[in-house]
Amino acid sequence: MSRALLARNGRRALPLIYGGRRGTDTLSGVHLAARRFIVDMSYSAHFMDFKGSSIASSMKKLVVTKLSPNFREAVSTQTVAVPTPGDADLLVRNRFVGINASDINYSAGRYDPSVKPPFDAGFEGIGEVVGLGLSASSRYTVGDTVAYFGSGAFAECTVVPAKEAVPVPAVKPEFLTLLVSGATAYIALKRLGDLAKGETVLVTAAAGGTGQFAVQFAKQAGCHVIGTCSTNEKAGFLKSIGCDRPINYTAEDLAKTLKKEYPQGIDVVYESVGGSVLELAVNSLANKGRLIVIGFISGYQSASGIPPFKGGTLPVKLLQKSASIRGFFLPHFLGDYREAMSSMIQMFAKGQLVCEVDFGDLAEEGKFVGLDAVFRAVDYMYAGRNLGKVVVEVAPPSVSNSKL
Ligand SMILES: NC(=O)c1ccc[n+]([C@@H]2O[C@H](COP(=O)([O-])OP(=O)(O)OC[C@H]3O[C@@H](n4cnc5c(N)ncnc54)[C@H](OP(=O)(O)O)[C@@H]3O)[C@@H](O)[C@H]2O)c1
Repeated sequence: MSRALLARNGRRALPLIYGGRRGTDTLSGVHLAARRFIVDMSYSAHFMDFKGSSIASSMKKLVVTKLSPNFREAVSTQTVAVPTPGDADLLVRNRFVGINASDINYSAGRYDPSVKPPFDAGFEGIGEVVGLGLSASSRYTVGDTVAYFGSGAFAECTVVPAKEAVPVPAVKPEFLTLLVSGATAYIALKRLGDLAKGETVLVTAAAGGTGQFAVQFAKQAGCHVIGTCSTNEKAGFLKSIGCDRPINYTAEDLAKTLKKEYPQGIDVVYESVGGSVLELAVNSLANKGRLIVIGFISGYQSASGIPPFKGGTLPVKLLQKSASIRGFFLPHFLGDYREAMSSMIQMFAKGQLVCEVDFGDLAEEGKFVGLDAVFRAVDYMYAGRNLGKVVVEVAPPSVSNSKL
């Protein structure tokens, strides 16, 4: 039997009263106000949220039913029972979920080839706690607002281990941009960039989800920042967040521009595109340059997932410049995650960090609203149309919770 504590109203049950929680969360700096609340230990599978609005017994979620990098082929919408959280878990009603380039790597089974479909899609969400287990209740209560980086986010509700949840002061989409995109830029540059004041940093896909943060963190480190993008609108946005030299590669030749304007080479590259862009970036490195492989999106839609790369002379190029190529994969750096989130949330609160969100307002069929809009949002990103982090609004604000 589940040990979940499910808050309910309107039914006869033995109430337990918990109270007096105080203090400040060390991760987010969120002040946890003293409060008293009532939980019900009847282990019911059907439950209601803390203000009494009923949670439906069924919900929609996106499930990978066939491995493919074509998201629409791989993923289908299913209606299932709302899951019951385990002892150390939260049940989160998702308000917003984030789209990541790797959603199609995941649907192609490239993360863990031993995992076979069906499995749940989506990496990150933000919303409100609507149910929780007994152990989880030592730290959280129904109505808390949390964000999380974990699997199964493309759903109306997701079970999240309480230890992986990030308390947030409100369900703002900006916080969602930090969970994967911001954390990747923050940790990769800190741990692998070795940035020094006055160095030159090149960020590819600079106006996207993670690129926007790499630009800002490199600028904060006192570097000269170059950012690539595909439109003048994105170039204008890059200027607005401090990028010294936005390059719209559809309007000017990237290789010629780098050669002409940066003859000494680039000290650090935050590289997300792969293929010919990676080759150009390697060729553009300065002596002792560092190239961080963040991704290779130009190959993700292919069968192999890997864009062609002529690497035969790579050892020579690296040796001649004492340069290095370093790979970065966020799940390998979870030891740095809490500090990164805490720091970024504080920067955002102080107005020191722009977290640009793209809800697809200008997309052909309009804003990304409802779980099924995830399909359109993935297409939109792969058409290179996004400016900032692509976010889908899964559910409207809860009328019972002013923090939403
Ligand atoms: N290593 C990690 O742990 C980690 C974590 C998060 C993200 N990433 C990587 O970071 C990169 C960006 O991911 P994201 O989720 O933040 O996406 P994003 O940057 O928000 O969106 C992708 C952008 O890539 C650019 N792009 C360049 N060539 C493209 C191509 N052939 N097809 C589609 N887009 C192309 C487009 O911008 P322009 O049109 O302006 O060029 C597009 O807007 C990806 O490589 C992803 O795998 C890695």
